[in-house]
Amino acid sequence: MKYKIHKVVFPVAGLGTRFLPATKANPKEMLPIVDKPLIQYAAEEAEAAGMMNLVFITGRNKRAIPDHFDKAYELESELRANGKLKLLELVREILPPNVSCIYLRQVEALGLGHAVLCARSVIEDEPFAVSLADDLIRPPLNTPGCLEQMVKIYERFQCSVLAVERVPKHEVNRYGIVETRSDQDGTQWVTSIVEKPHPDATQSNLAVVGRYILTPAIFDKLIVTKRGTGGEIQLTDAIFALLQDEPVIAYQFDGKRYDCGSKLGYLQATVEYALAHKDLGNDFAAYLKNLIL
Ligand code: G1P
Repeated sequence: MKYKIHKVVFPVAGLGTRFLPATKANPKEMLPIVDKPLIQYAAEEAEAAGMMNLVFITGRNKRAIPDHFDKAYELESELRANGKLKLLELVREILPPNVSCIYLRQVEALGLGHAVLCARSVIEDEPFAVSLADDLIRPPLNTPGCLEQMVKIYERFQCSVLAVERVPKHEVNRYGIVETRSDQDGTQWVTSIVEKPHPDATQSNLAVVGRYILTPAIFDKLIVTKRGTGGEIQLTDAIFALLQDEPVIAYQFDGKRYDCGSKLGYLQATVEYALAHKDLGNDFAAYLKNLIL
C-alpha cells in the first residue's frame, strides 16, 4: 500500500545552550534569520512538501513556539484598525488554514531518538518526516525545498530517506555518518550508519543533516534503543537497527545547508538571506561592500 507523507515531526525540546544567553528564555528555534524564525522556515518547507500536520515535540521554555503559530487576535485587530494590511497578511499567513499543529511535551531530554518516539501515538502507522529547524536549507532558485525533493524519492522507492551532504573529514564527529553503496542510476543505499564517529573510525564523510523521511517501523526500533553517544537515545542507532530489516536511502539534496545551531552558521545564513531579501538585499549589499573595502 502506498502512503503519502502528511505528518512532520519537529523536535524542538533542546536547550540551545550554544546560544546562551539569547536562548535562556527564548527557544533557539525562534531565533530569526532576517525577519522569520527558524521554525517558520522549517514549517514552510514541510508545507510546500504537502505535510499539513505539524507535530512539535516541545519542552520547557518553548511556549513561544505555539504562540507563534496561534492566531493572534489582538495583534490582528490592531493591524486591521491601523490599515496595516500587508503586515496583517504576513501574520495571518504563518499558519495556512489547511495546516494543523499538534504539541507534545518531551518530559525528559533523552535525545533525538526519544523525541521522535514521543510522536508515535500521533504518527501511528504512516511514514513521516522529521525536520531539525536549526539545519536551514535553501534550495537553488526554482527548485523545490529539501523535504519536497525527499518526498519524490520516497514516492519512487517507498523506503526511508535521509538527507546527507559531504562534510570535511575533521567534522564527522559532529554528525550521523553513513556508508553507502551506489546503484547504476546513482541511488545511494545506506549500508551503515554511526553517530558522531571519531574521524579515524570511518572512511566516510557523508553526514546526515536534519531531514529524514522514516517508515513507521522506526518506532519498534526506537523503543528498544539503548542510550548511546552522549548518554542519549540516538535516532541514528534506531536507523542502524532499521537497516537490518529495510532499505534506507541516503539522498544528497540540491541546496545549501546552514548549520544554524552554531554561531558561525547562523551568521552565514543571516548574511546570505539578507543579501537575497527582496526589500533589503541591495542596501545590505552596498553596506557590506563599504564595510569591507
Ligand atoms: C543530530 C543527529 C545527527 C545529525 C545531526 C544533523 O545531531 O543526532 O545524527 O547528523 O542532528 O544536524 P545534533 O546536531 O542534534 O547533535
